[in-house]
Amino acid sequence: MRYFLTIFAIVVVLVVAIAGTRGSKSRRSPIEIFPDMVRQPKLRPQAPDGFFANGRSSQPNVPGTVMRSTPIQTAAGAVYPYEDAPVNTGRITGTTNFVELNPLVVDLELLQRGRQRYTINCAPCHGGLGDGNGITKKYGMAVVGNLHDKRMVMMPDGEIFNTLSYGKGLMQGYAGQIDVRDRWAIVAYVRALQLAQLGTTNDVPASEQAALRK
Ligand code: HEC
Repeated sequence: MRYFLTIFAIVVVLVVAIAGTRGSKSRRSPIEIFPDMVRQPKLRPQAPDGFFANGRSSQPNVPGTVMRSTPIQTAAGAVYPYEDAPVNTGRITGTTNFVELNPLVVDLELLQRGRQRYTINCAPCHGGLGDGNGITKKYGMAVVGNLHDKRMVMMPDGEIFNTLSYGKGLMQGYAGQIDVRDRWAIVAYVRALQLAQLGTTNDVPASEQAALRK
Protein backbone atom coordinates (compact mmCIF):
# COMPACT_ATOMS: atom_id res chain seq x y z
CA MET A 1 0.00 0.00 0.00
CA ARG A 2 2.82 2.37 0.83
CA TYR A 3 4.38 1.68 -2.57
CA PHE A 4 1.07 2.20 -4.24
CA LEU A 5 0.60 5.61 -2.63
CA THR A 6 4.14 6.68 -3.53
CA ILE A 7 3.76 5.59 -7.15
CA PHE A 8 0.32 7.17 -7.29
CA ALA A 9 1.69 10.47 -6.02
CA ILE A 10 4.52 10.39 -8.55
CA VAL A 11 2.07 9.67 -11.37
CA VAL A 12 -0.18 12.55 -10.28
CA VAL A 13 2.77 14.93 -10.19
CA LEU A 14 3.92 13.74 -13.63
CA VAL A 15 0.49 14.07 -15.20
CA VAL A 16 0.05 17.57 -13.83
CA ALA A 17 3.56 18.51 -14.93
CA ILE A 18 3.04 17.26 -18.47
CA ALA A 19 -0.61 17.86 -19.16
CA GLY A 20 -1.50 20.59 -16.66
CA THR A 21 -1.56 24.26 -17.56
CA ARG A 22 1.36 26.64 -17.90
CA GLY A 23 -0.19 28.87 -15.29
CA SER A 24 -3.31 30.95 -15.43
CA LYS A 25 -2.28 32.74 -18.65
CA SER A 26 -2.10 29.72 -20.92
CA ARG A 27 -4.35 26.83 -21.75
CA ARG A 28 -1.47 24.89 -23.30
CA SER A 29 0.30 22.06 -21.51
CA PRO A 30 3.65 22.98 -19.90
CA ILE A 31 5.57 20.28 -21.74
CA GLU A 32 5.21 20.50 -25.47
CA ILE A 33 4.64 17.12 -27.04
CA PHE A 34 3.25 18.41 -30.36
CA PRO A 35 4.35 22.02 -30.89
CA ASP A 36 1.56 22.57 -33.48
CA MET A 37 3.44 25.52 -34.99
CA VAL A 38 3.01 27.49 -31.77
CA ARG A 39 6.25 29.35 -32.45
CA GLN A 40 6.86 30.46 -36.02
CA PRO A 41 9.89 32.34 -37.24
CA LYS A 42 7.83 35.04 -38.91
CA LEU A 43 7.37 38.78 -38.66
CA ARG A 44 4.02 40.02 -37.43
CA PRO A 45 2.61 43.05 -39.23
CA GLN A 46 3.02 46.37 -37.43
CA ALA A 47 5.08 44.80 -34.65
CA PRO A 48 8.60 45.83 -33.64
CA ASP A 49 11.24 43.44 -34.82
CA GLY A 50 15.01 43.40 -34.82
CA PHE A 51 15.46 41.88 -38.27
CA PHE A 52 15.52 45.12 -40.25
CA ALA A 53 17.78 48.02 -39.38
CA ASN A 54 14.85 50.36 -38.75
CA GLY A 55 13.39 47.92 -36.18
CA ARG A 56 10.02 47.52 -37.87
CA SER A 57 8.48 44.34 -39.22
CA SER A 58 6.46 46.12 -41.93
CA GLN A 59 8.70 47.93 -44.37
CA PRO A 60 7.73 50.85 -46.56
CA ASN A 61 7.29 50.07 -50.28
CA VAL A 62 10.49 49.79 -52.26
CA PRO A 63 10.78 52.69 -54.74
CA GLY A 64 9.27 51.64 -58.08
CA THR A 65 6.78 49.19 -56.52
CA VAL A 66 3.99 48.42 -58.97
CA MET A 67 0.45 48.70 -57.62
CA ARG A 68 -1.50 45.47 -57.44
CA SER A 69 -4.78 47.07 -58.31
CA THR A 70 -5.61 50.14 -60.29
CA PRO A 71 -9.04 51.69 -60.63
CA ILE A 72 -11.13 50.22 -63.44
CA GLN A 73 -12.87 52.64 -65.77
CA THR A 74 -16.59 51.78 -65.69
CA ALA A 75 -19.53 53.53 -67.31
CA ALA A 76 -20.15 55.16 -63.91
CA GLY A 77 -16.56 56.33 -63.40
CA ALA A 78 -13.38 54.80 -62.03
CA VAL A 79 -13.79 52.15 -59.30
CA TYR A 80 -11.30 50.02 -57.47
CA PRO A 81 -12.02 46.31 -57.96
CA TYR A 82 -12.31 45.75 -54.22
CA GLU A 83 -13.83 42.63 -52.80
CA ASP A 84 -17.48 43.61 -52.80
CA ALA A 85 -17.52 46.01 -55.76
CA PRO A 86 -20.00 44.85 -58.44
CA VAL A 87 -17.24 45.17 -61.03
CA ASN A 88 -15.32 42.53 -59.10
CA THR A 89 -18.12 40.15 -58.16
CA GLY A 90 -20.77 40.56 -60.86
CA ARG A 91 -23.27 40.98 -58.01
CA ILE A 92 -25.08 44.00 -56.62
CA THR A 93 -23.19 44.97 -53.45
CA GLY A 94 -24.67 43.44 -50.30
CA THR A 95 -26.98 41.06 -52.18
CA THR A 96 -26.63 37.83 -54.11
CA ASN A 97 -28.38 39.32 -57.15
CA PHE A 98 -26.35 39.56 -60.34
CA VAL A 99 -25.88 42.90 -62.06
CA GLU A 100 -27.96 43.00 -65.22
CA LEU A 101 -25.56 44.94 -67.41
CA ASN A 102 -21.85 45.03 -68.05
CA PRO A 103 -20.53 47.91 -65.88
CA LEU A 104 -17.83 48.81 -68.43
CA VAL A 105 -18.37 51.01 -71.46
CA VAL A 106 -18.92 48.49 -74.24
CA ASP A 107 -17.19 49.88 -77.30
CA LEU A 108 -15.35 48.43 -80.27
CA GLU A 109 -12.05 48.36 -78.38
CA LEU A 110 -13.57 46.34 -75.51
CA LEU A 111 -15.23 43.91 -77.93
CA GLN A 112 -12.01 43.37 -79.82
CA ARG A 113 -10.17 42.73 -76.58
CA GLY A 114 -12.98 40.39 -75.53
CA ARG A 115 -12.77 38.49 -78.79
CA GLN A 116 -9.04 38.03 -78.42
CA ARG A 117 -9.33 36.90 -74.78
CA TYR A 118 -12.31 34.65 -75.59
CA THR A 119 -10.38 32.99 -78.39
CA ILE A 120 -7.48 32.31 -76.06
CA ASN A 121 -9.34 31.26 -72.93
CA CYS A 122 -12.79 30.01 -73.86
CA ALA A 123 -12.77 28.86 -77.49
CA PRO A 124 -10.82 25.65 -76.81
CA CYS A 125 -13.92 24.34 -75.03
CA HIS A 126 -16.82 26.57 -76.05
CA GLY A 127 -15.76 26.88 -79.69
CA GLY A 128 -15.27 29.97 -81.82
CA LEU A 129 -19.05 30.33 -82.15
CA GLY A 130 -19.76 29.71 -78.47
CA ASP A 131 -21.82 26.63 -79.30
CA GLY A 132 -19.78 24.29 -77.11
CA ASN A 133 -18.01 22.57 -80.01
CA GLY A 134 -14.43 23.43 -79.17
CA ILE A 135 -11.43 21.24 -79.83
CA THR A 136 -11.73 19.62 -76.38
CA LYS A 137 -14.94 17.92 -77.51
CA LYS A 138 -12.87 15.80 -79.88
CA TYR A 139 -10.87 14.65 -76.89
CA GLY A 140 -13.84 13.60 -74.84
CA MET A 141 -15.12 16.69 -73.01
CA ALA A 142 -18.73 15.98 -73.74
CA VAL A 143 -20.83 18.47 -71.83
CA VAL A 144 -19.54 21.96 -72.51
CA GLY A 145 -22.21 24.63 -72.03
CA ASN A 146 -23.73 25.98 -75.23
CA LEU A 147 -23.62 29.77 -74.81
CA HIS A 148 -26.59 30.09 -77.17
CA ASP A 149 -29.00 28.19 -74.92
CA LYS A 150 -31.98 30.34 -74.09
CA ARG A 151 -30.96 30.17 -70.43
CA MET A 152 -27.55 31.67 -71.22
CA VAL A 153 -29.03 34.37 -73.43
CA MET A 154 -31.41 35.36 -70.61
CA MET A 155 -28.65 35.31 -67.96
CA PRO A 156 -27.68 38.68 -66.47
CA ASP A 157 -24.22 39.85 -67.55
CA GLY A 158 -23.14 39.54 -63.91
CA GLU A 159 -23.92 35.82 -63.86
CA ILE A 160 -21.79 35.10 -66.92
CA PHE A 161 -19.05 37.15 -65.28
CA ASN A 162 -19.43 35.19 -62.07
CA THR A 163 -19.42 31.84 -63.88
CA LEU A 164 -16.32 32.59 -65.90
CA SER A 165 -14.59 34.03 -62.83
CA TYR A 166 -15.37 31.37 -60.26
CA GLY A 167 -16.47 28.43 -62.39
CA LYS A 168 -19.63 26.36 -62.34
CA GLY A 169 -20.21 22.62 -62.37
CA LEU A 170 -17.46 21.02 -64.40
CA MET A 171 -15.95 24.33 -65.48
CA GLN A 172 -13.20 25.84 -63.41
CA GLY A 173 -12.97 29.57 -62.71
CA TYR A 174 -10.70 31.86 -64.68
CA ALA A 175 -10.33 34.68 -62.13
CA GLY A 176 -6.73 33.62 -61.57
CA GLN A 177 -5.75 33.87 -65.23
CA ILE A 178 -7.86 36.71 -66.60
CA ASP A 179 -7.98 40.14 -64.97
CA VAL A 180 -11.23 41.89 -64.12
CA ARG A 181 -11.40 44.19 -67.14
CA ASP A 182 -10.65 41.36 -69.56
CA ARG A 183 -13.34 39.21 -67.97
CA TRP A 184 -15.95 41.89 -68.62
CA ALA A 185 -14.57 42.23 -72.15
CA ILE A 186 -15.22 38.49 -72.62
CA VAL A 187 -18.76 38.91 -71.26
CA ALA A 188 -19.35 41.66 -73.82
CA TYR A 189 -17.99 39.43 -76.58
CA VAL A 190 -20.16 36.49 -75.49
CA ARG A 191 -23.14 38.85 -75.87
CA ALA A 192 -21.94 39.75 -79.35
CA LEU A 193 -21.69 36.04 -80.24
CA GLN A 194 -25.23 35.49 -79.00
CA LEU A 195 -26.53 38.46 -80.93
CA ALA A 196 -24.83 37.14 -84.06
CA GLN A 197 -26.89 33.94 -83.78
CA LEU A 198 -30.14 35.69 -82.90
CA GLY A 199 -29.99 38.22 -85.72
CA THR A 200 -32.47 38.10 -88.60
CA THR A 201 -32.26 39.47 -92.12
CA ASN A 202 -34.16 42.52 -90.89
CA ASP A 203 -31.14 43.53 -88.77
CA VAL A 204 -29.07 43.90 -91.96
CA PRO A 205 -29.07 47.34 -93.64
CA ALA A 206 -31.88 47.52 -96.21
CA SER A 207 -29.41 47.94 -99.06
CA GLU A 208 -27.88 44.52 -98.30
CA GLN A 209 -31.08 42.60 -97.59
CA ALA A 210 -31.95 41.87 -101.21
CA ALA A 211 -28.60 40.15 -101.76
CA LEU A 212 -29.12 37.94 -98.70
CA ARG A 213 -32.68 36.98 -99.63
CA LYS A 214 -31.66 35.61 -103.02
C1 HEC B 1 -11.68 23.54 -70.14
C2 HEC B 1 -12.92 23.78 -70.85
C3 HEC B 1 -13.62 25.10 -70.65
C4 HEC B 1 -13.12 26.36 -70.80
C5 HEC B 1 -11.71 26.75 -71.22
C6 HEC B 1 -14.20 27.27 -70.54
N1 HEC B 1 -15.33 26.58 -70.22
FE1 HEC B 1 -17.15 27.36 -69.84
N2 HEC B 1 -17.90 25.52 -69.52
C7 HEC B 1 -17.20 24.34 -69.64
C8 HEC B 1 -18.02 23.23 -69.26
C9 HEC B 1 -17.61 21.76 -69.23
C10 HEC B 1 -19.29 23.79 -68.91
C11 HEC B 1 -20.51 23.05 -68.40
C12 HEC B 1 -20.39 23.05 -66.90
C13 HEC B 1 -21.47 22.26 -66.24
O1 HEC B 1 -22.66 22.46 -66.55
O2 HEC B 1 -21.11 21.43 -65.38
C14 HEC B 1 -19.18 25.23 -69.09
C15 HEC B 1 -20.19 26.11 -68.85
C16 HEC B 1 -20.10 27.48 -69.08
C17 HEC B 1 -21.19 28.41 -68.89
C18 HEC B 1 -22.59 28.05 -68.47
C19 HEC B 1 -22.71 27.89 -66.99
C20 HEC B 1 -24.13 27.52 -66.61
O3 HEC B 1 -24.77 28.34 -65.95
O4 HEC B 1 -24.55 26.42 -66.98
C21 HEC B 1 -20.73 29.64 -69.24
C22 HEC B 1 -21.51 30.96 -69.19
C23 HEC B 1 -19.34 29.49 -69.60
N3 HEC B 1 -19.00 28.16 -69.50
C24 HEC B 1 -18.54 30.51 -70.01
C25 HEC B 1 -17.18 30.37 -70.26
C26 HEC B 1 -16.30 31.47 -70.63
C27 HEC B 1 -16.76 32.90 -70.85
C28 HEC B 1 -15.05 30.94 -70.78
C29 HEC B 1 -13.76 31.68 -71.07
C30 HEC B 1 -13.27 32.48 -69.99
C31 HEC B 1 -15.15 29.51 -70.52
N4 HEC B 1 -16.45 29.21 -70.21
C32 HEC B 1 -14.08 28.64 -70.59
C33 HEC B 1 -15.88 24.21 -70.03
C34 HEC B 1 -15.02 25.25 -70.27
